[in-house]
Amino acid sequence: MKLPSPKTILLAALASTGVLGFESVEDAARIARTLVQSESIGTLSTTFPEGHALAGESLGLIEYYAPCHNNGSLAVLFFGISLNGKNILASSNHSATFSLQAPPSRSAATKPRLAMMGTFEIFGDKYPQGDELRRCYLKSHPDAWWTPGSHGEGVHGATWARFDPQTIYFVGGFGGAHYIGYIPIDLYRRAVPREAEPDSFERLRIESDK
Ligand SMILES: *[C@@H]1O[C@H](CO)[C@@H](O)[C@H](O)[C@H]1NC(C)=O
Ligand SMILES: *[C@@H]1O[C@H](CO)[C@@H](O)[C@H](O)[C@H]1NC(C)=O
Repeated sequence: MKLPSPKTILLAALASTGVLGFESVEDAARIARTLVQSESIGTLSTTFPEGHALAGESLGLIEYYAPCHNNGSLAVLFFGISLNGKNILASSNHSATFSLQAPPSRSAATKPRLAMMGTFEIFGDKYPQGDELRRCYLKSHPDAWWTPGSHGEGVHGATWARFDPQTIYFVGGFGGAHYIGYIPIDLYRRAVPREAEPDSFERLRIESDK
């Protein structure tokens, strides 16, 4: 018999400490996917590596992404020369955290947000679906005047990358009413995002109040 890894047990224990309001963890997974689908800018956080003057400190800066993968992974234009890029390259598994929030409102504390801890797959100049990815990325970011392979020389060695979330922490809003806790990664990957208007998160929550 294959025993679950300590990490699996830890995550299961953490998931069960999630505060359940009227949002179930399934609702939370759907809201998380809807948020990822409807936004295109998040905060990318990394940790400075050993040997750096800031070793162990964290860095968080806004970053573009595009929701071009149907399992909730993110398409990213990766800049190896950026500070976050350097930290990612220095980490053995290219790990980072992407955080997203619903569009700002007068009461941001009541809105869903999430942190996705995961790993980057950096493609260099060998990305098989370049054209498809470019079309998808430009839908989210029409201001991207250059993408890998589009024309001319590359920009600061930028390449396509994919961010695969591995652990998701979700805060639906105020506890008691909303789900606050970890979302099992399989649930997140399988969840189907809704077509979301920028301010539809209120409605999403009301719909889940059965
Ligand atoms: C997510 O989907 C992409 C294809 O769009 C695939 O390459 C990648 O391996 C998937 N990630 C995970 C963690 O399953
Ligand atoms: C990346 O590697 C570090 C150090 O080995 C480990 O602690 C962390 O859990 C890994 N992160 C992911 C997302 O796999």
